[in-house]
Amino acid sequence: MNLREFLKNQKYDKGLCDIIIDIQMGAIEIFSKLNEEYYDYKGSAGEKNIQNEEVQKLDIIANNIFIEKFKKNIFVEKLLSEENKEPIKLNMGGKYIVAMDPLDGSSNIDVNIPVGSIFSVLKKNPNDFLQKGDLQKLACYVIYGTNTVFVIAIDKQVHSFSLNSLKKEFYLTQKKIQTPVNGNIFSINEGNYKSFSPEILKYLEFCKSLDLKNKRTHTGRFIGSLVADFHRNLIKGGIFIYPKTNDRPSGQLRLIYECNPIAYIAKHAGGLSTNLRHDILKITPTKNHERVAFVVGSKNMVQKLLSFR
Ligand code: F6P
Ligand code: MN
Repeated sequence: MNLREFLKNQKYDKGLCDIIIDIQMGAIEIFSKLNEEYYDYKGSAGEKNIQNEEVQKLDIIANNIFIEKFKKNIFVEKLLSEENKEPIKLNMGGKYIVAMDPLDGSSNIDVNIPVGSIFSVLKKNPNDFLQKGDLQKLACYVIYGTNTVFVIAIDKQVHSFSLNSLKKEFYLTQKKIQTPVNGNIFSINEGNYKSFSPEILKYLEFCKSLDLKNKRTHTGRFIGSLVADFHRNLIKGGIFIYPKTNDRPSGQLRLIYECNPIAYIAKHAGGLSTNLRHDILKITPTKNHERVAFVVGSKNMVQKLLSFR
């Protein structure tokens, strides 16, 4: 069953369905750009974004692709993007506002490692984008990996769809995804070791000590694309940890368009997320590009880490 047929069979709000279809169309365009040999699309754009990160040409292309899609969507009133300082006003009277990271992990493009696009959809509200993640109406990402997969959390369920690039449609591959309660993968950038708090150090020690039953330690995996690290852990069971660091004292990842949608997907797949003090989805953001410490993954693994506090 393709994504359009799937949506037709559900009782989801029309606005949310239209947003999903726009994301599908944008993702297919990005998939084509990523897979072309044409080198004008690759490499750095030679500028920094408002967050002082190097911008890749494809960051700009992906951003423009999705802006153009949402511009024509009467349900989308405003769009907040990682690439734009201020939210972009789109369609007056639209019922929803969308926050996005149009190309997550973009420093990995030139080395052939998966990247993604992440979206969070909220109802329009006087607080604008400064709403708790629990209030999201739709959260989703596309991972452009060995297969291009669209993971959607809507109506408290998580489903995944795979791209058939010849037919230019996504097809349902997994309904009501549940992440394993336990796992043995831990994902953390250990280059930041000197910044880790005692509870993280204790948890890493636990991950690295031999499990007598399985005669193995946990497995360390860090790709450097949040979407890819999360997606693997969602399917196999695991924990992703990006704490506050000396050079990123608030954390590396952005609450509104990276952590919230990923945390919402994790929750409805049976997982957990935290900033090590609160559930991610219960935090009220104070600014649009706010960064937070982020831990997400299999329930028992996140709880184990929290038990070392
Ligand atoms: O979007 C930020 C991001 O690229 C994530 O995709 C990734 O998890 C993280 O930053 C990696 O950052 P670093 O390589 O500095 O640890
Ligand atoms: Mn990102």
